[in-house]
Amino acid sequence: MTTNASMTLRTLAACLLLAAAGTALAKGDPVAGANKAKSCMACHGTNFDAEADGQYPRLAGQYPDYIARVLHEYRDGGRDNPIMKGMAGSLSDQDIQDIAAYISGLPGKLHDLSRMKKK
Ligand code: HEC
Repeated sequence: MTTNASMTLRTLAACLLLAAAGTALAKGDPVAGANKAKSCMACHGTNFDAEADGQYPRLAGQYPDYIARVLHEYRDGGRDNPIMKGMAGSLSDQDIQDIAAYISGLPGKLHDLSRMKKK
C-alpha cells in the first residue's frame, strides 16, 4: 500500500514535470505570428528588415529565443523603452511565441558585425 502510494506520487510528480517542461518549450506558430505581427511593420518594415527606416532594429532572422525574451522584458519592465513597452504591453505569452517564430523564420541580413568594422 505504501509502495503503491509513493509510486503514484512519483508518477504524479513526473507528469507535473513533463507538463511544466511542455509549457516552457511550447513552440510558437509562425502562421498565427504573421497575423499578430502586422502592427509591428510600420516601424520594423514589412520584411522586418528595417528596409523602410534604418533607425529601427532589424529583426528578420533573429534568434526566436532572443525575440521572445526581449518582448517579455519590454512587456514586464526588464527592458525599458516607451515605444516597445506600448507595443508589447498587450501581448500574451502565446502571442510572443508566435511572433518570435514568425519573425525568426524570415530571411534577413543579420549575419555578423561586418558593418561595424572600419573600411
Ligand atoms: C512605433 C514604432 C515601433 C513599432 C510599431 C514596433 N516597434 Fe519594435 N522597436 C521599436 C524601437 C524604437 C526599438 C528599439 C528600442 C530599444 O532601444 O530598446 C524596437 C525594438 C524591438 C525589438 C528589440 C530589437 C533588438 O535587437 O533588441 C524587438 C524584438 C521588437 N522591437 C519587436 C517588435 C514587435 C514584435 C512589434 C509588434 C508587436 C514591434 N516591435 C512594433 C519601434 C517599434
